[in-house]
Amino acid sequence: MHLRSVELQMPKRQEAVDFLKNPWGLVEVETRGSTTYLRGSDNFHYALAITEGAEKLVKSATLVGTMDEVKASFERVKAQGLKHSEWVNEFNEPGHGAGFTFTGLEGEPFRVICEKDAPPAVLASDGTHPLRVAHVVFNTSQREAASQLLIDVLGFKVSDRTKVMNFLRCDELHHVVAYADSDKATLNHIAFEMLDMDNMFTGMGRMKDNGFETVWGPGRHGPGDNAFAYYIGPFGACIEFTSEIERVDDSYVTGTPEDWKWPPKRMDHWGIAVRDDAKLMDSSAVFHFESVAAH
Ligand SMILES: [Fe+2]
Repeated sequence: MHLRSVELQMPKRQEAVDFLKNPWGLVEVETRGSTTYLRGSDNFHYALAITEGAEKLVKSATLVGTMDEVKASFERVKAQGLKHSEWVNEFNEPGHGAGFTFTGLEGEPFRVICEKDAPPAVLASDGTHPLRVAHVVFNTSQREAASQLLIDVLGFKVSDRTKVMNFLRCDELHHVVAYADSDKATLNHIAFEMLDMDNMFTGMGRMKDNGFETVWGPGRHGPGDNAFAYYIGPFGACIEFTSEIERVDDSYVTGTPEDWKWPPKRMDHWGIAVRDDAKLMDSSAVFHFESVAAH
């Protein structure tokens, strides 16, 4: 299973789309009705969907798998009594996936699909485009139970636990979903993978040219070992350029908070990152979760 995309709803869709194309670097795929789809250069049909709507909501984080994986997940979701949609034979979107949506413990909406269309061609990378959505992080007051739910119904594994976050994987990427301690149940941030560090810094330069400064970074994280640069998009959510994410396999030993302690005044490997806690905190209050119709 892989994290393919995140679907958001917000007002001023066109303004968001314009920003996500330039300076952020995504490529517009198409618009269907009130939703615009944007992709990275990897061979996924899209990375981000922006639907016009008054409220700022996460509609879903979409995982793609084989039909057997998706159907087995649907059975486990039903058996656990989780709130879920009915089975959808074909979502009207690029890729034409079949599957369902369910909610995590605090309403975070996951969609699990098997795409009917073959993957699109990889786009030539010129240092402009993010490759893909790398991970999505949700705020939660039930970090351990929320993580266990993804383990139970989707077969996720915990790569690392720190004092404030759990990092979960479903493929070779060190993490694709993470849960952060909070008194809110909201979107924390969405990360986009760049091909390498040079591409990440090129993207940062493009952001600077357009008047966007980082709210945290550049730096290099502990868990996942990825380089990072966080921004607040014009729609108020925190978004991240990242690169050099650690790839792991089943031999990876799950880290504990004891393994991820920083020296005083440090919050990353390099120690140069400036962090605007107030802006990061504000961004965590912006995107809530769309409720999934119960069945
Ligand atoms: Fe991140």
